[in-house]
Amino acid sequence: MQWGSATLAFYGIGAAAVATSVAALRKRLELSQAKHPSLSGHVRIARRLARFVPFYEYDAERFFCSDGAPHDIAARRRAGFNQLSQTYRTRFAETIRATAEAAESLSDLQFTAAYRVPFQYRRLVRAHLPSASFVESSRGVTLTDLDGNRSYDLTGAYGVNLLGYDFYKETIERGAVRVRELGPVLGFYHPLIAENARMLKEISGLDEVSFHMSGTEAVMQAVRLARYHTRRSHVVRFCGAYHGWWDDVQPVVGNPIAARQTYTLTEMSERALRVLRKCRNIACVLVNPLQALHPNVSPPSDSALIDSARGADFDKARYGEWLKKLRAVCSECNIVLIFDEVFVGFRLAKGGAQEYFGVRADLVTYGKTLGGGLPVGVVCGRRDLMKRYREDRPADICLARGTFNSHPYVMAAMNEFLHALKTPQIDALYRDLDKLWNARAHMLNARLAAASLPVRVANLSSIWTVCYTQPARYNWMLQYYLRAEGLLLSWIGTGRLIFSLNYSDADLAAVVDRFVAAASAMQRDGWWWRNPASTDRTIRRILLKEIISERWTRVRRAVFDDGQRPA
Ligand SMILES: Cc1ncc(COP(=O)(O)O)c(C=O)c1O
Repeated sequence: MQWGSATLAFYGIGAAAVATSVAALRKRLELSQAKHPSLSGHVRIARRLARFVPFYEYDAERFFCSDGAPHDIAARRRAGFNQLSQTYRTRFAETIRATAEAAESLSDLQFTAAYRVPFQYRRLVRAHLPSASFVESSRGVTLTDLDGNRSYDLTGAYGVNLLGYDFYKETIERGAVRVRELGPVLGFYHPLIAENARMLKEISGLDEVSFHMSGTEAVMQAVRLARYHTRRSHVVRFCGAYHGWWDDVQPVVGNPIAARQTYTLTEMSERALRVLRKCRNIACVLVNPLQALHPNVSPPSDSALIDSARGADFDKARYGEWLKKLRAVCSECNIVLIFDEVFVGFRLAKGGAQEYFGVRADLVTYGKTLGGGLPVGVVCGRRDLMKRYREDRPADICLARGTFNSHPYVMAAMNEFLHALKTPQIDALYRDLDKLWNARAHMLNARLAAASLPVRVANLSSIWTVCYTQPARYNWMLQYYLRAEGLLLSWIGTGRLIFSLNYSDADLAAVVDRFVAAASAMQRDGWWWRNPASTDRTIRRILLKEIISERWTRVRRAVFDDGQRPA
């Protein structure tokens, strides 16, 4: 048979097309294998499913027996709930009143009030255990609300409060005095900025520094620089990791649009490393070392506490090994390794996660506590990566702006913070830091075990999370018992407790006593009654059935009753 040149060309193109599609298919397959099997690992599916979940709620009867508890247990729960509600109404009267009044105008308060507990229980909880979100003073490790109640602060001001509120009051005040002559002049710099940059270079071991207004913006800038210098498009983030609320790094539920240039991969996985080696479009990998406490799991919040599956287990050596492997692959493939230390920077060690795990990043973001109590975001990086223009292509630049970047008052408070790190008192706080906080977590766990309470804590140094040891549907109630015992949590409840390093042994002992008292009261009130047939899986299955049935009811109603499309 004679092959004409046109036929040969046709087959050639066909073969090339098949080869390209096979390669593309293989890439897709490897990418999908590198995703975590949980919903957090499949961000697009998770976002779609989130839209599918209809609102429904338990009535006053089912609220107390949604786990199939018998009548006497439900009655005990009801009595406990009413008692707690009474305590709230009397003890926090003014704080609750002011919060409710302000919530009319503050959308943030409305959101956080709604998302404290799983939505099925939301209405009754809000009616009887309303939010009391106002405080008017801080002292030592305590906060005082509008009713004069002094409670232990376990919120850590979202992680900002590392060294104690009194410390930050001073850094802000002393800093303000130092820049008073200049005032809030922007565009020019107060000379303090140069010293800050020098100290940050020392701490980070990197060459240059840029200042921003928040952690989110620092991450935005780090990613933008990585894209600019590598001329690649995609960002890798690991499943569950939070890096601020900018679209590209928050492709999960909560972001109305899909992030198209982000890969969410499984952390601590060889498959993820394989993807990094194979994909040529990856500009950078973002690591949030806080995930070492619960790799591949989203920040734990009580609004998602539908069972007791929340787990955490920190293994420093294993996570350090993972970071080393990641470092090696990023170097091999010219991918920029970014450590997002906005949360853990200065908390794990003075040199942050780089020092703690013994791994160097190309870019590091800091924020929170570094502002000395004022808002800030910082990028430290290698000189070649920090450059925002190209010598040979003057129009090809990488822009970073922000009106309030390098605000003199922030620079001054930061300067106070950075100098304080060098004092013997603060230095002493870092000595045997892990040993101290591990022992403290152990002490609480020992007390909880001795009292046969189904609660334990896991910790990454001074960052703790509460875990539950038996299947249960009412674990989220613990946050209310803790509050009644004078322990203040942030709106995500028992998902995260953040201690400042000025907690003394006596303070910690008081917290432990109160924690055990709160959990004991909750147990006494029957919330941890155990349905012998119940497992975390059966709980989730029941909830899934409820959701499907509710959705189906709506579809039926829309089609048969109203003739309308379901919402
Ligand atoms: C690791 C990490 N990156 C970025 C951010 C965002 O920082 P900010 O809230 O200052 O924008 C946070 C905030 O919690 C964070 O924990």
